[in-house]
Amino acid sequence: MGNVVDNEISPDDGVIVVKDLFKTFGKLRVLKGISLSVEAGKTTVIIGPSGCGKTVLMNHMIVLDRPTRGEIYFRSERIDELNEKELAPIRVQYGFLFQGGALFDSLDVFENIIFPIRQHRKITDWKAIDELVKTKLAMVGMEGFQNHYPASLSGGQQKRVALARAIALDPHIILYDEPTTGLDPIRSDVINELILKLKRELKVTSVVVTHDMKSAYKIADHIIMLHEGKIIAEGDTDYIRNHPHDVVQQFIHGRVSEADLAALRLGGTKFKTQYAPEDFK
Ligand SMILES: Nc1ncnc2c1ncn2[C@@H]1O[C@H](COP(=O)(O)OP(=O)(O)OP(=O)(O)O)[C@@H](O)[C@H]1O
Ligand SMILES: [Mg+2]
Repeated sequence: MGNVVDNEISPDDGVIVVKDLFKTFGKLRVLKGISLSVEAGKTTVIIGPSGCGKTVLMNHMIVLDRPTRGEIYFRSERIDELNEKELAPIRVQYGFLFQGGALFDSLDVFENIIFPIRQHRKITDWKAIDELVKTKLAMVGMEGFQNHYPASLSGGQQKRVALARAIALDPHIILYDEPTTGLDPIRSDVINELILKLKRELKVTSVVVTHDMKSAYKIADHIIMLHEGKIIAEGDTDYIRNHPHDVVQQFIHGRVSEADLAALRLGGTKFKTQYAPEDFK
């Protein structure tokens, strides 16, 4: 898949297709004409600076947000105009790992995992549900944690339980919003391996939003970089790694731009309460 020219994208180009998407909140223009397609069975990674609209874009993929302008397709069907009731059978095919994990603190691990099942059907066969919870916990390496409450789990364990919940309904598509943020490198890599395993074993299609380039390079088949509400670069990992654009290089190497440095210098007095270099001499 090469670069996609706006407006030329067709609803059949992928399992999810976003066409010429604009999103505005009040006066804030967040997305300014995004067109992309997500290929079935592949992992598409979306990168870009904090606040550039990655979460907003991902929310549109399951219509948790509605476009200001533009179209969203799922399996060639236009979904952004459907009502909540019509969206339910579509959303049930997705797993969503929200930014921050978002487990319910008042529910134990077992109840958290079956939450999406309860939303979609009435549970009668509790033995099967017990088995299902066991299987999902085993997949994420959290066997035996059914009766723990989120507060007693580490950040990495909470993410893995949230992932077990995201796969409770055997989704064809999993959307991961910052799955490794806040985790140490080893726990991050456990999540990367899980994403790869779900793709390999369950053939899931994944969309992953991340800041973590190590993770992006490891899991991505296709990388899309957002900048100021538009797609600035799109391609496979090698293409992105060697991208000639300064903004792309600065982002993937975690360097601040000249403009950012200038802003920091101007705002110098704001940092009065912090240590000065001479404090360390
Ligand atoms: N419901 C909303 N109402 C108003 N503004 C919003 C809303 N949702 C998001 N925004 C704004 O849209 C912009 C993009 O937000 P978004 O959460 O998508 O950023 P992001 O790229 O996911 O950032 P991060 O990497 O920090 O998670 C931000 O300026 C945010 O404040
Ligand atoms: Mg976000």
